Amino acid sequence: MLRFDIITLFPKVFNGIFNESMIKRAKEKKKVLIKIHDLRDYSSDKKRHSVDDRPFGGGPGMVLSPQPLFDAVKKIKGRKKAKVIYVTPSGVPFSQSHAKRLTKHKNLIIICGHYEGIDERVREHIVDEEFSIGDYVLTGGEIPAMVMVDAITRLIPGVLGKDESLVNESFEADLLEGPQYTRPADFHGLKVPPVLLSGHHQQIAQWRRAQAVQHTQKIRPDLAGKWRQHRGQ
Ligand code: ADE
Repeated sequence: MLRFDIITLFPKVFNGIFNESMIKRAKEKKKVLIKIHDLRDYSSDKKRHSVDDRPFGGGPGMVLSPQPLFDAVKKIKGRKKAKVIYVTPSGVPFSQSHAKRLTKHKNLIIICGHYEGIDERVREHIVDEEFSIGDYVLTGGEIPAMVMVDAITRLIPGVLGKDESLVNESFEADLLEGPQYTRPADFHGLKVPPVLLSGHHQQIAQWRRAQAVQHTQKIRPDLAGKWRQHRGQ
């Protein structure tokens, strides 16, 4: 079982996403355990529960203080081994290969930032890895944390049903997935490519691969480059 601990200023926002569909099933199957922690509960300021302060040296916004984050991580970790992740636009781009690697851990603690960021001493002393989910700035780390939990959870063996295969999906072999069709074969004159109706499994597989390569070269030439290198072409 992989345990996620998420440290956030907005615990309520996780309710919907983690109680539906695949994540709900993964929890029911005891493949994951997800605990949400309110950062304010760890503030030593028992009156105002403050968690942030103005930046030294001046500048706009507020910075999350070290005390609540150090205490939260220490308490949550206990004596267990856990990897501490901070989600931030200045992190390493999160990808499918990171998601796969992180399925191997027993406990992932994810810190969601807010305001102008978190005190650098937290990053230096308690954070193990920093991830960005893309080259844009969100209002906080909650959505990136959800993205990571979702991407990691579905890759844990036994989470997807046998109808939901991982083999042909996007990013496997650095290719984006090609087109899919379902019935009817003729929708108001819009026809499905005949090869898919042919019953020739080999031809279908070849056609699908060609479509995936074409689509990847057009939309993500950077991935298409990686795909060629893999095969020494
Ligand atoms: N926090 C705000 N924007 C983010 C992003 N793009 N990735 C990760 N964390 C973030």
